[in-house]
Amino acid sequence: MPAISASAPAKIILFGEHAVVYGRPAIAVPVDQVKARAAIQAEPLARQGMVKIEAPDINLSSTLEQLSPGHPLRVTIENVLAALKVTTPPAFTLRVSSTIPLASGLGSGAAVSIAVIRAVSAFLGKPLADQQVSDLAYLTEKLYHGTPSGIDNTVITFARPVYFMAGKPIQTFPILRPFTIIIGDTGICSSTAQMVGDVRARWQADPAEFEAIFDSIGSITREARQAIEHGQLDDLGPMLDENQVLLQRLGISTPQLKRLIDAARQAGAAGAKLSGKGGGGNMIALADPQNAQSISTALYAAGAVRTIITQVRQP
Ligand code: PMV
Repeated sequence: MPAISASAPAKIILFGEHAVVYGRPAIAVPVDQVKARAAIQAEPLARQGMVKIEAPDINLSSTLEQLSPGHPLRVTIENVLAALKVTTPPAFTLRVSSTIPLASGLGSGAAVSIAVIRAVSAFLGKPLADQQVSDLAYLTEKLYHGTPSGIDNTVITFARPVYFMAGKPIQTFPILRPFTIIIGDTGICSSTAQMVGDVRARWQADPAEFEAIFDSIGSITREARQAIEHGQLDDLGPMLDENQVLLQRLGISTPQLKRLIDAARQAGAAGAKLSGKGGGGNMIALADPQNAQSISTALYAAGAVRTIITQVRQP
């Protein structure tokens, strides 16, 4: 039997992070330059039910049962088997690899889960619909983050720009004119659960102030959607800058993020902000395609460990 494989892109949040946890909208887009991949080979000579997992990127080589019960790969595979009502699958080896940087806001965990869910369900001859894939990936996301909004599994499963509101059906929207984003990674790892928890503690201490900030972020996100839909790209830069000011008020920006954001603006970016959980991780800048490379160079000079230049466009 030939190997079956599936891949999933990374993602980046353009507008609305953190506020999305409190019911406001967010906009996220796929990032195709990096990917997670899952490949499955049948093992006809092994005993029924034998599942071997190889993930060399994280030095993992194990059977399913040897993994701890809460291991994300084990949970993901067991959830797929349960959803498909398969108790003893034909023996197989699953190989997982990913070029998506870990824990930096690019959705590496969700991308791995989605590639695995697609590969395992296809191998079992029961490929799942996108919404089912996304729902199953959400269950694994909960292991990582506790109370994820669901934005990562949604944008990565559907692999198209999304306007996301927790608990609401996915909304996509047309992108009239493509635009270029540069992602700059501070190289500093932060925990999503911790950052979301920190914001929650501050919100509990001053709900009126934080609700007002979330409202303002929600308004910018709605306006950004309109601007993207109508190709009014000149409006987007100032919106990124405004969103950044609000994220600073949430207390999640850091001097390193600020340094990269300032460097991007000085190198000609139309606007810039942190992206995702903050406390480290990534920032994004909006640029003309012609000066994307020089902004990337400026980001490295300001301490970025990695940059990705990506185009946001209609899939
Ligand atoms: O995974 P990141 O870094 O893109 O951040 C998650 C985005 C949050 O809004 C902070 C949390 C969430 O679950 O949406």
